[in-house]
Amino acid sequence: MKLTDVYKDAIKRKYALGAFNFYNLESMKAILNAAEELKTPVILAVSESALKYFGFEFLKNAIKSARKTYTVPFFVHLDHGKDLDICKTAIKCGFDSVMIDASSLPFDENIKLTKSVVDFAHKKGIPVEAELGKLKGVEDDVNSTEALFTDPDEAVDFVKKTGIDSLAIAIGTSHGVNKFLGEAKIRIDILSKIEKKLKDFPLVLHGASSIPFEHIKKINSLGGNIKNAKGVPEDVLLEVSTKHNICKINVDSDLRIATTMAVREYLNNNTSEVDPRKYLKEAIKEMQNLVEHKIKDVFKTKNIKFLNY
Ligand code: G3H
Ligand code: 13P
Ligand code: ZN
Repeated sequence: MKLTDVYKDAIKRKYALGAFNFYNLESMKAILNAAEELKTPVILAVSESALKYFGFEFLKNAIKSARKTYTVPFFVHLDHGKDLDICKTAIKCGFDSVMIDASSLPFDENIKLTKSVVDFAHKKGIPVEAELGKLKGVEDDVNSTEALFTDPDEAVDFVKKTGIDSLAIAIGTSHGVNKFLGEAKIRIDILSKIEKKLKDFPLVLHGASSIPFEHIKKINSLGGNIKNAKGVPEDVLLEVSTKHNICKINVDSDLRIATTMAVREYLNNNTSEVDPRKYLKEAIKEMQNLVEHKIKDVFKTKNIKFLNY
């Protein structure tokens, strides 16, 4: 099964594939357990810093081993690669797809760098995602305080000149737990303009965690101090998955929050416990619940009869 075929199918039948970030065996297993349980293909995203945290050889073997262990199709994807070298490293590591994020560069330089990754990756049969516009907040090691929405005309030019397979757009979401100070504002109008101009082209939504209020409340009640937490409302995610050409939705913070909540809760209730397997098991369970909920109730990927799966 090729990711580009799944994207085509997602546009036709209106669903989005969840792209969940992982960085260790616990998060990797939680995402794959959820996908296997629901018989639903999933994207496992690895940031540059997560790749370093995992370690190249260890990750390469973990991916190989997961392909033997799980029957559900899954795609390992490089999230926010900053240059050609990291994309090459990811491909060597056994990734199925890469993102080159040159969105902090001027338009022409973004095109140039993105095109160089496309030229390399396509020769190896690997699809490429790129980004146009800027998300507010922290994008891996890049900080941007100003959101810059994607310009629909530039998007057409960018796709034509780079030959990318999918485009990450900026329509008001951002990374991390503090996405909005007041009401959540997502520019569906800009999304609609982009899809009108880029007919049937796979679009990607980053910064799409919902930052569940109940999870934050529990963390704070157990000694945490997370302020002004606000995420993307799930009805908006449901709308972009089922009525628009968003084919991939990125979730990282929600998994981090689920882990933090589970560990705090377990240790709070079991103050003499020192065995990490006990609390990490709870973390896996909470992450798996979250992934299953997103797939079933929000992205609507479950029950889609996948190509040959
Ligand atoms: O988009 C950014 C991701 O949430 C990755 O963050 O570099 O801390 O793993 P990270
Ligand atoms: P969140 O911080 O909203 O989970 O965003 C994740 C993301 O976009 C990863 O690329
Ligand atoms: Zn992102």
